[in-house]
Amino acid sequence: MSKSSIDIESVLKEARVFEPPKEFAAQAHIGSLEEYERLYRQSVDEPEAFWAEQAETLHWFRKWDRVLDWDPPHAKWFAGGQINVSDNCLDRHLTTHRKNKAAIIWEGEPGDQRVLTYDMLHAEVCRCANTLKALGVAQGDRVIVYMPMVPELAITLLACARIGATHSVVFGGFSAQALEDRINDCEAKLVVTADGGWRRGKEVALKPQVDAALEKCSSVDHCLVLKRTGSDLPMVEGRDVWWHDVVPAASADCPAEPLDSEHPLYILYTSGTTGKPKGIVHSTAGYLLGASLSAKYVFDLKDEDTYWCTADIGWVTGHSYIVYGILANGATTVMYEGAPNHPGPDRFWDIVERYRVNIFYTAPTAIRAFIKWGNEWPEKHDLSSLRLLGSVGEPINPEAWMWYRSVIGGDRCPIVDTWWQTETGSIMITPLPGAIPTTPGTATRPFFGVVAEVVDKDGNAEPPEKGGFLVLRKPWPSMLRNIWGDPERYEKQYWSDYPGSYFTGDGARQDAAGNFWIMGRVDDVINVSGHRLGTMEIESALVSHPRVAEAAVVGRPDDLKGQAISAFVTLEGSAAPPPNFKDELRAHVTKEIGAIAKPDDIRFTDALPKTRSGKIMRRLLKELASSGEVKGDTTTLEDFSVIAQLKESEE
Ligand code: PRX
Repeated sequence: MSKSSIDIESVLKEARVFEPPKEFAAQAHIGSLEEYERLYRQSVDEPEAFWAEQAETLHWFRKWDRVLDWDPPHAKWFAGGQINVSDNCLDRHLTTHRKNKAAIIWEGEPGDQRVLTYDMLHAEVCRCANTLKALGVAQGDRVIVYMPMVPELAITLLACARIGATHSVVFGGFSAQALEDRINDCEAKLVVTADGGWRRGKEVALKPQVDAALEKCSSVDHCLVLKRTGSDLPMVEGRDVWWHDVVPAASADCPAEPLDSEHPLYILYTSGTTGKPKGIVHSTAGYLLGASLSAKYVFDLKDEDTYWCTADIGWVTGHSYIVYGILANGATTVMYEGAPNHPGPDRFWDIVERYRVNIFYTAPTAIRAFIKWGNEWPEKHDLSSLRLLGSVGEPINPEAWMWYRSVIGGDRCPIVDTWWQTETGSIMITPLPGAIPTTPGTATRPFFGVVAEVVDKDGNAEPPEKGGFLVLRKPWPSMLRNIWGDPERYEKQYWSDYPGSYFTGDGARQDAAGNFWIMGRVDDVINVSGHRLGTMEIESALVSHPRVAEAAVVGRPDDLKGQAISAFVTLEGSAAPPPNFKDELRAHVTKEIGAIAKPDDIRFTDALPKTRSGKIMRRLLKELASSGEVKGDTTTLEDFSVIAQLKESEE
């Protein structure tokens, strides 16, 4: 959908207002709307003073010279400062009461458990950091991390941060091809992986994918391999090293390197509107400040809390709100390896009950699955430890919000619906649970320092209640700094539509009370189970099959996943597709990108609807995929018969 053709209309009308519960507000870091508004005003009226004061909460090797250098669209935050993220997440807690406090409480899918205190985690991170150095990784080198959700994943990230290596986590669900593309794009020197991980009782093999990818990756010298599942693996002599052979033997003394504030902490690949994933680059100081400050206030984090975010560290949510933002606050983070429905649909509630989790952060797609599985599963467990619930990844429908509030939160816990993106690094629009009244379906108000606005296509502010495009007017500390190796795309993608402002790619409206209602993506990106997938990437994967001539992919509404993937495919030659060809194409996409990108519906057609200038009219395909009808404007369509034919090509 192009920006000019979109007509954003919001049909959602929701008026239930939930004030922050009095007892919650009384103990919260920010306990009233007035206090939020006062701090918010300060953060946007005097941003440099505000952020300088907040930055004092971190440990610096050298203080900054200037809070912000802003040469749009390039920002430097805390210019001239020297800092280390690993030091801030670990070392500074060791001289406090937190030294022997649980940093990570981990549970594997088979039921194995580990607790790492801050002191223990620090030692493990130092050993891992010394191992990375011994394997030739130096400051500025890139390390690809392709691991299951085990403590060693967090350990590896903190070890990279400690020595100034830039990490790039690739979600374990991505294929060898996707892995290869990412390794080559950032020219990684080392890959850290495992034999596999556990999901629904089965092994998800990882090392074989790495082996396939590394056939075409000349930058990689070594592969560090953790034994998790114990399955038999071929190890490549001279390249592959077992974790257990080297890490435990390494020294636990590894001082954190003082790094420039702007040093790239990590690259995380995300989908855009072209076929090529974008390597979003995040900084050191600004990112850490954004992640830690938002974690403290949005989750109202306290020392005695047990906090659990169910995301995978392969996504930005896991980076900011399992690892960095949480550990920087000296809190206890729960990490779980496996599926929510193994061995039964109550696994999450079992974990909440056993560890007495206080703060629970998950995605709407998971909530919809819980609703479908039935209330009896949460009702079997004592969830009274919970005091705050969070949601992230896509708009949460009011029905799911109300269910979450009553069945999981016992009508007692506030819900924070947090809007943000891989690019923003930290939460941007959100309730503060002790201060901001909530209504199902709105992410409510901007976080400190965030100047959000809904605009028309020319950049003029829309009046209240009118839908438009969501932009951020001012730079913020945890903003992305670049697209790895592609500064032009960085400028064009985010900063060219509304010069000087950041375009989010989302549609939104603001209500008269100032709440933001996010309406989803306006570009060719679909949101499946809270994960962004570029339609172009899936189209490129389909077209790379020798029998496919052309493909168009659109999202259609799906009760469980938010959006499902609908593919329209034309084939080479005139022969009919062979039997089971849809399955073959699904397997092909799985091989090219990973199972998350597998189309839900595939329809074969002789032609795709195009404009006279040859552009595929995805808007029409979207209508067709969602409702089976095309009612929209077809005046620019070149060949009308295409639509009739498409209607007949039932999935
Ligand atoms: O469309 C918005 C949606 O997810 C997109 C960002 O996806 P990603 O970079 O993968 O990061 C997901 C986790 C931060 C946004 O552009 N989105 C995310 N959170 C919400 C949301 N849409 C509505 N409400 C949210 N709370």
